[in-house]
Amino acid sequence: KLRRGWVECRHDIDAFAPGLLSIYESLRPSEEHRSKQSQLIDSLTKSVSKEWSNAQLHLYGSCANSFGTSHSDVDVCLEIDIGTGSVVELLLRLAEILRADGFGDVEAITSARVPIVRMLDSGSGFSCDICINNLFAVANTKLLRDYAQIDGRLLQLASIVKHWAKLRGVNETYRGTLSSYAYVLMCISFLQLREPKILPCLQAMEPTYTMVVDDTECAYFDEVHLLPDFGAENEESIPELLWAFFHYWAFQHDYRKDVVSIRMGKIISKKEKNWTTRVGNDRHLMCIEDPFETGHDLGRVVDRQTIRIIREEFERAADILQHDDDPCDTLFEPY
Ligand code: CTP
Ligand code: MG
Repeated sequence: KLRRGWVECRHDIDAFAPGLLSIYESLRPSEEHRSKQSQLIDSLTKSVSKEWSNAQLHLYGSCANSFGTSHSDVDVCLEIDIGTGSVVELLLRLAEILRADGFGDVEAITSARVPIVRMLDSGSGFSCDICINNLFAVANTKLLRDYAQIDGRLLQLASIVKHWAKLRGVNETYRGTLSSYAYVLMCISFLQLREPKILPCLQAMEPTYTMVVDDTECAYFDEVHLLPDFGAENEESIPELLWAFFHYWAFQHDYRKDVVSIRMGKIISKKEKNWTTRVGNDRHLMCIEDPFETGHDLGRVVDRQTIRIIREEFERAADILQHDDDPCDTLFEPY
């Protein structure tokens, strides 16, 4: 198959701005949703601090990184000194406590890569995952939230891309496609690479924030209120950016060599990461570097079969935005 070179997007693409933005608006969590979320966190905090007075609860993931929708689950991290005990014992005890306090459908999932307690809050209908001491997730949640404050187009683009990925069945890590987190990183990197840039590279700037996790320094410039007009020189609209995003991933990204890195604010090479061959289960077919755990490739879940599916979806999306009369419907058609 021929790799298409530089293609310009259709001249009338801005006509789809209202449609796309109304989809984005419809995804935003309501005030009621937010207040139910904080009620849930308050009652969780009460239950936990009765048992462990020195423990701390952190919200992470889309309920705290501002990329949440009204369908997002609630991700919570319990920061606690486990001493000589084990994470599994602690999770089992946590499950007991939550059941005793009347939370419904509480289940300790201890065999997962990241062991969690999962529960369904009957009051709000939220599904809630609680993990232990996953402080990298707390750090990258803040990083994403800070990026989202720099230019509003990030939130719009990433929300639409996440929505698209869910409906098209390419947001299921257990089946070899990408996490929501990976899609948000792809959007940040994409906006760092626009000309003129829409986002800076916060980790390449003088750090104003540092959090040390497992001997790794998570440091970056977090005074984003000082960058209010950063992306203003770039006037690209959401339809243009969405098309260019899919076009990039369909036809321009070099899957053999490229690694997406928001840490560096540019594309780096698999060679320099030593990600050229399969190591264990990490195939490195599509490479997205975690900003703080730089040995983590968020694309490691992708295999030979699912990369084909994902790339076909990128091509389909680019094609629809380029040619379809009513792309806002077709693009999000459930697969
Ligand atoms: N995370 C991570 N490493 C991964 C996957 C996830 O550190 N490989 C952390 C990130 O902090 C991420 C959070 O777990 O924000 C939740 O991941 P995910 O469910 O993929 O993203 P959400 O933003 O919560 O998306 P959704 O709205 O689909 O729940
Ligand atoms: Mg989540």
